[in-house]
Amino acid sequence: MSEMPDRPSPRPAEQAAALRTQLHHHAHRYYVLDAPEIPDAEYDRLFRELQALEAAHPALLTPDSPTQRVLGRVLDGFAPVRHAVPMLSIRTETDTTAAGAEAFDARVRRELALAEDAPAIDYAAELKFDGLAMNLRYEHGVLVQAATRGDGETGEDVTQNIRTIGQIPLRLQGCDAAVLEVRGEVYMRRDDFEALNERQRALIAAGAKNEKTFVNPRNAAAGAVRQLDPAIAARRPLSFYAYGLGEVRGWAVPATHAGLLDALAGLGLPVCEHRAVVAGAGGLADFHARIAALRDALPFDIDGVVYKVNDRALQERLGFVTREPRWAVAHKYPAQEQMTRLLDIDIQVGRTGKLTPVAKLEPVFVGGTTVSNATLHNEDEARRKDVRVGDTVIVRRAGDVIPEVVGVVPERRPADAGEPFDLYKRLGGQCPVCASPIEREEGEADWRCTGGLTCPAQRKQALLHFAGRRAMDIEGLGDKLVDQLVDAGIVRAVPDLYKLGFTALATLERMGEKSAQNLLAAIEKSKRTTLGRFLYSLGIRQVGEATAKDLARHFGNIDRLMDARVEELLEVNDVGPIVAQSIRHFFDQPHHREVVEQLRAAGVAWPDEAGLASDAPRPLLGKVLVLTGTLPTLGREEAKALVEAAGGKVTGSVSKKTNWVVAGEEAGSKLDKARELGIEVLDEAGLRALLQPAAPDATPDATPEV
Ligand code: IVH
Repeated sequence: MSEMPDRPSPRPAEQAAALRTQLHHHAHRYYVLDAPEIPDAEYDRLFRELQALEAAHPALLTPDSPTQRVLGRVLDGFAPVRHAVPMLSIRTETDTTAAGAEAFDARVRRELALAEDAPAIDYAAELKFDGLAMNLRYEHGVLVQAATRGDGETGEDVTQNIRTIGQIPLRLQGCDAAVLEVRGEVYMRRDDFEALNERQRALIAAGAKNEKTFVNPRNAAAGAVRQLDPAIAARRPLSFYAYGLGEVRGWAVPATHAGLLDALAGLGLPVCEHRAVVAGAGGLADFHARIAALRDALPFDIDGVVYKVNDRALQERLGFVTREPRWAVAHKYPAQEQMTRLLDIDIQVGRTGKLTPVAKLEPVFVGGTTVSNATLHNEDEARRKDVRVGDTVIVRRAGDVIPEVVGVVPERRPADAGEPFDLYKRLGGQCPVCASPIEREEGEADWRCTGGLTCPAQRKQALLHFAGRRAMDIEGLGDKLVDQLVDAGIVRAVPDLYKLGFTALATLERMGEKSAQNLLAAIEKSKRTTLGRFLYSLGIRQVGEATAKDLARHFGNIDRLMDARVEELLEVNDVGPIVAQSIRHFFDQPHHREVVEQLRAAGVAWPDEAGLASDAPRPLLGKVLVLTGTLPTLGREEAKALVEAAGGKVTGSVSKKTNWVVAGEEAGSKLDKARELGIEVLDEAGLRALLQPAAPDATPDATPEV
C-alpha cells in the first residue's frame, strides 16, 4: 500500500504528535474495544515510524508516547490481578527469511561470548499462537485464578470465563505444588471462528441488535475472554496451549524448556505437538520453513514461530533487556491481513441461487498468495462494514478459507467513494446470470435467484458440486469445462453427464483426444459410488457430507429416504427440524426424483443397498477397524463404506481399542503397531468374511455364481 497521499512532510514534532494520536486511537480500538480498524502490520509500521522519529530526535520523546509503555489496560468490570511474576513480551524478528533465524542465533552466541568454533546451541522451537496470553494459577493442583496479561504487571481476573474452556484442566494430574502458574495462549480455532461468525451473521439477519461479527479468530477470542457474561463466553468455543511458567513454589522446574513442555503435557495441559529441539541457526531456519509449509493446514492461526534457548541455565545467563528475554525471539511469517483498494463489487450466483457480493481488489499479497477477489458474505455484512467502491479495505486470508474483506479503513475513504451497498438496486432486482427475479426471505441473510436449475449459474455450481472430490469424484471436471459444457448447451442437468460422448467432448475448445478419453473414464468410474456420496452430491440444502452419511446409514435405501416423513427423518442422528424439512422439500419436487431415476438408469450404483439398511444384520456393530496399505480389489473408500454399513467404525490409528487391522500391499507402521499390540491382522478375504452376517446354515462353498 502506498503512503497516505494527503500527508505532505510535516516537521518532525508535528509528525510525531500525529503518529501518537493515531497509535493511541488504534490501540484503544484493538485492546479495549476488540475491534481494530487497521491490520496489525499497519499498526506495527506506524509504531516503528514513531520509534525511528523519536530515536532521531530524542527531544520529541514524551512520557505518554505509545512507545514508552506496554499497551493493554484493565477493563472496568473485571477485578485487577497483580502478576506475581510480570508477563513479558518477546522480541520480534520481522525479517521473514532465514536471515531472521541467523540474526537471533548470532546475537545469542555473542551475548554468551561463545567462540566461533563452539558447538551449536540447542533451541526449543514452537509455534507463535495468535491469541491472547493467559496466566493460569494452580494451587495444590487446583485452578484458582486465570488472568489476562493486561499491561504485563496487572491483568484482569477472567477465571469464570476461562473455566468454560474444556481443554483447561480444573485440576492438574499428579501435582500438589503450593503454586504453579502456567502461561499460555487462549485462541480460537479457525473452524470455530467461521462457525461463530456464521451464527452471528444469521442473528444479525434475523434482526438481533447488539450482535456483531469478528474480524479474526484472535479478536473473537479476546472478546470471549473479556465477555462479562460467562454464559455468553461459554458459547464462544476457545482453545488453549501452554508454553511457559509464572510463579512457581514447590515444583521442580525441568532443566530445559523442552523438558518443561513435556512436563506440562504430563500434568494434563494442552501442549502443541508442533515443537522440536533444534541445533543452531540452521535448525531454526529449517523449523521456520517446515512450519511455513504447514501453516495453511493448521486448524488455527499462527503469526510466526518462537525460538527459545533450550537450557534454562543458559537462559538465566542471558537474562533480560527491559521487558524482553534475550533468550527468546518470535520469528514472523507474512501477514494474513493486508490493506488494499476496493475496485468494484461483483455479485456471484451460488449452487442454491445464493447471491454473494464479491470484492474486486487491487491485487495484494496476503497470507502467502496474491489475492484479487474476496467475499463480502452478504448484503447485511457489506452494509454493516459500510464498504464502498474506492475504499481502502482490510483483506484476510488464512488457511484454506476463502479470502474475506473484514473491514474498511474509514480515514482513508476518498471523497468520490461509491454509494452504500444495495444489492437489490445494484442488480435491478434480477439475477445477473439468468435475469430471474431475486428474493430475500424474512429472517434470511441471503438474497437468492429464483431461477432454480433454469439458471445457468446454479446449474454450473450444481454440476461442480456433483463432480466434487467428496461427492461423485469426477476427476477433470473443473469450472472451465463446466462453463463450456453448459454454455454450449451440451449439459443441462447432472444426468446429461452420463450421456456425454466422445464426439461432443472432442469439439470443445482446448479438449484434446486424450483429455476427452480421461474424462469419459472418470465419469464411468464415478458410477460406482456409495449412497452417502450420492446423497451428498445431490446438493440438498442443509445436507453436508456428514449428514449424507448418517442418512445413508439410517435408511440404507434411497427409495425409503425419498419417501420418509419428516418425523422419520428426525430419527436420524443430528437431523433437526430445519434439515428434515429441507430434505422433504427437496424430494417433494418431482424433477429431483426424476434426476435420481435418470442417474440410476444411467448405471450409478452403490454397493449392497439392502446391507446398509438399519434393520439389516450388522455383524460389525461396535467394532473398530483400521485399514492400511492397498487391498487387491476394494478401494479405501469402498472398504470403509462396507465396514460402516456393517455397523463398524474405521479409525486412522491403531490402539488397544482396535479390533482388527486390515492390511494390504505396502502396509506400513500401522501393521507394525498392530503386531506390537497383538491385534489380529486380516487381508481382504478376511475382511469379506467378517462382513458376512453370521448365518449358521450358510454353506459358502455352495453359493452359486451370479
Ligand atoms: S513466550 C518470556 N511462547 O506472544 C516469553 N509467547 O510477546 C514470554 N505467544 O503475548 C512469551 N505464542 O501471548 C511465548 N509459543 C509462545 C507464544 C507466545 C504466542 C504470544 C504471547 C505474548 C506474545 C509475546
